[in-house]
Amino acid sequence: MDQPTSEQQKMLYILVTGANSGLGFSICCRLADEFLSTHPESESLTIIFTTRSARKAQDTSRGLKAHLRETSPSASARVHFVPESVDLGDLVSVRALSRKLVHSLPRLDAIVLNAGIGGWSGIHWPKAIWGVCTDLIHQVTWPCYKLAPTGVLTPKQTAVDEPALGSVFCANVFGHYMLAHNVTPLLKRAHLNGPGRVVWVSSIEATWKFFNVDDIQGLRTDAPYESSKALTDILALTSNLPSTAPWSVDSFLESDAELNTHAIHTDAPDASPRSYLSHPGICATSIVPLILPLAWAMVASFWVARMLGSPWHPLSTYLGACAPVFLALASQAKVEAAEEPYHQAGGGRVKWGSSCSRLGVESPACTEVDGWGYGGVVGTPVVEADRLRRRKRGAEQLTKEQKEEFEELGRQCWKQMEELRVQWDEILDRAEARS
Ligand SMILES: NC(=O)c1ccc[n+]([C@@H]2O[C@H](COP(=O)([O-])OP(=O)(O)OC[C@H]3O[C@@H](n4cnc5c(N)ncnc54)[C@H](OP(=O)(O)O)[C@@H]3O)[C@@H](O)[C@H]2O)c1
Repeated sequence: MDQPTSEQQKMLYILVTGANSGLGFSICCRLADEFLSTHPESESLTIIFTTRSARKAQDTSRGLKAHLRETSPSASARVHFVPESVDLGDLVSVRALSRKLVHSLPRLDAIVLNAGIGGWSGIHWPKAIWGVCTDLIHQVTWPCYKLAPTGVLTPKQTAVDEPALGSVFCANVFGHYMLAHNVTPLLKRAHLNGPGRVVWVSSIEATWKFFNVDDIQGLRTDAPYESSKALTDILALTSNLPSTAPWSVDSFLESDAELNTHAIHTDAPDASPRSYLSHPGICATSIVPLILPLAWAMVASFWVARMLGSPWHPLSTYLGACAPVFLALASQAKVEAAEEPYHQAGGGRVKWGSSCSRLGVESPACTEVDGWGYGGVVGTPVVEADRLRRRKRGAEQLTKEQKEEFEELGRQCWKQMEELRVQWDEILDRAEARS
């Protein structure tokens, strides 16, 4: 790459996966809007968004530009949209995108790992109708009526011998994990907003009761989506602990591509990237495919839940984008200030969710996680807003023993994920050598 121009030096680069619909599209819109209202005129933003086809890329690009023309007609030249293609369930495609980015971008300031699939096959309607009629808020926040097949695998990835790979696990976690590892050299060169950030998009539904450390791919469970999101939580929340560092820092954040990039990137690698965890609350999207009348019934039940006091029903994906965009765009000082009360009380990383008031006023809010409580703080929550927010029924205050168990789970998950990544990188190398 040529010497970066001064314009490139003042450019923020953010990658968003799965941008053609739902939350991903709104994350791109909101990134543009918030960037223009918070960053000086001398700075500009490049949003690299991924889809799975040229047609989706074109439609998305058109939609994003139309949004920008509508919301910020005079400043639209400061935001650039760059389409890229990746199928996260196809590791060859993940590798191809990673290479392209590493060889064409000067850096990445943040990556928002949004794309995902539910993998559901249907809904247990009697359970759903009964649950929604008798226990609305709980059932439309932590539903227990979605049905999913067990043991669904991705198509074969390469022409060489390879182990089975879970379909939901690969699309939601492992494809992103490989991508994040591969683009680490770019994240290490982030400088406008502090260290590069890996922003995971999880779900409020994720809880460790769906997760089995002996089955991290969720191949033996009938809740592979919830398992994949629980794994996402465990990885992100334990990513900065000393006990996971041999894998999460010394291995995951070291990439072979580093050697190549020294030669073509003028900025030296700086601080290690940081992992953050977000979720959008509950939004009306097509991740659960429903025919139109049922989709409207779903929206109506979400709205009633919000009116009855649920803090986790933004409904609109633009409001749902609040937490991931906060983590991707806010200054490092702001993000650290938001997490500071938890650190002060002996906690760690926070699961930031898009919370919403009855009137539709959104804000990023700390979400209680089984085994991690509020931001990893043992005992009573330290932030008043957390104490006041409606909790999941049956939620208990975090104990020291539970936290230790969660940290140990994190250590085992990081170890297994790194072993799997190394194994798959070797398989991909072998397949490339043969072709
Ligand atoms: N909606 C909610 O209430 C909610 C709640 C909690 C968490 N989330 C999370 O939010 C994220 C976005 O969900 P959404 O509700 O916006 O769903 P959505 O409208 O179905 O969007 C999913 C996006 O991911 C892409 N995608 C799916 N599989 C992919 C793959 N293998 N490779 C690359 N891209 C892939 C889709 O592309 P295609 O169009 O090509 O399939 C689409 O752009 C997901 O991670 C989801 O788990 C959503």
